[in-house]
Amino acid sequence: GKPERQVAVFGAGYIGLVTGACLAELGHRVVVRDIDPDKVALLRSGDVPIYEPGLGDMIVRNKERLTFTLDLEETLRGAEIAYVCVDTPPSASGDADLSRIWSVVKSLEGAAHLKAVVVKSTVPVGTGARVRSALDAAGLAHVGYAANPEFTAEGRAVADFMRPDRIVIGAADEAVAQLIADLHDGVDGPVVVMDVRSAEMVKLASNALLATKISFINEIATLCEKTGADVEEVARAVGLDHRLGPHFLRPGIGWGGSCFPKDSEALRQLASNTGYHLQLLSAVIEVNNLQKRRAIQKLKDELGTLAGMRVALLGLTFKPGTDDMREAPSTVLAGRLLAEGAEVSCWDPMARPGEVEPWVSTTRHATPEEAMAGADAVIVVTEWPQLKEVDWAKAAESMRRPVLFDGRNLLDPAGMRALGYTYMSVGRP
Ligand code: UDX
Repeated sequence: GKPERQVAVFGAGYIGLVTGACLAELGHRVVVRDIDPDKVALLRSGDVPIYEPGLGDMIVRNKERLTFTLDLEETLRGAEIAYVCVDTPPSASGDADLSRIWSVVKSLEGAAHLKAVVVKSTVPVGTGARVRSALDAAGLAHVGYAANPEFTAEGRAVADFMRPDRIVIGAADEAVAQLIADLHDGVDGPVVVMDVRSAEMVKLASNALLATKISFINEIATLCEKTGADVEEVARAVGLDHRLGPHFLRPGIGWGGSCFPKDSEALRQLASNTGYHLQLLSAVIEVNNLQKRRAIQKLKDELGTLAGMRVALLGLTFKPGTDDMREAPSTVLAGRLLAEGAEVSCWDPMARPGEVEPWVSTTRHATPEEAMAGADAVIVVTEWPQLKEVDWAKAAESMRRPVLFDGRNLLDPAGMRALGYTYMSVGRP
């Protein structure tokens, strides 16, 4: 096998934890550093601050090779490779906020024993070149640089790391690219090496194209509603064309999460900064915004008004299998409903929305049935499997008005209508 490496991972967030744990699983010695004392304390006690299948077990299994610290010196001692996995949230200008990246780069000054600095965080194209210059200026010209973007989806991050569709490595230097490729020895996926800027672009382009597929099928769904076609049939047959593929053609109330909204906005901003307006991507974002508002409009049309109505939201997280509320469509729906004067009751098995608006003005229930009791309408927002088990007949009877908007096409239209629901979904007749 390839040599075991000593790796310093900066950032114990979603990506840093998955990267650190998986590199340890591959046999490397890994120190993960974070500046949040609570997070580090939690990790040291064997707990994981995020929900991700397989991650907790992997961290425990590799505790000999995987440590967590606040201490910079301990992180860098003997380190050969520094992985930058800090977050790059949107800033007020719409550009990605790279301040956390710069603070890590600054902390590397003096780490002359490093072989390479690798940025895994999602960054604007050109960031690597700037990090390179900063390293040169800090007397680290001999330390290599690589971009190594991640393509992991929440809920399957460990599997995505260990069996990826591709490992993208951007590096100016062949030896550095080889070092990072060797670090992944044992990972089951093709390595694709390119220049740094292209590697940075791959990440942004991939997410934008995935978001485009969803917005596209959502627009077709709207047109299906207007023409009497069934988008589920359309998507199934369109997806059988191997050039198009079956994935990311599920219509719904729009995409959310920690990546698509942030990265598509960052890519649009990146283009604007060069003087070019990305027209297609702008439309993709706009369609996604509209998709959430259309759901509310449909309810409003059905109920006449939303003022004084009680609406139940089932599922709050941006997708099932996660506790992540970032850019969840439910937040827009709840906010719009409250703005229209409705009362909002909700259910979700995992969400932790926090003590913020609109959530402080809603009522959380332990079961979907409880959330629906006495409601004038219900919206299926997130396709949690638990919703398949609901006694929908009984739930209909408990509602003031059995109006159901199925935002994920989870339920059977004819069956729900037979139970007495005024049933609406996305793009189905
Ligand atoms: C995504 C990318 O898949 C991943 O490669 C990237 O690294 C990070 O962003 P993630 O945000 O975890 O991962 O979620 P994903 O499962 O891709 O879903 C994103 C959003 O699109 C969700 O809100 C989901 O509900 C929505 N979606 C997805 C659809 O509405 N229709 C689909 O067909 C697929």
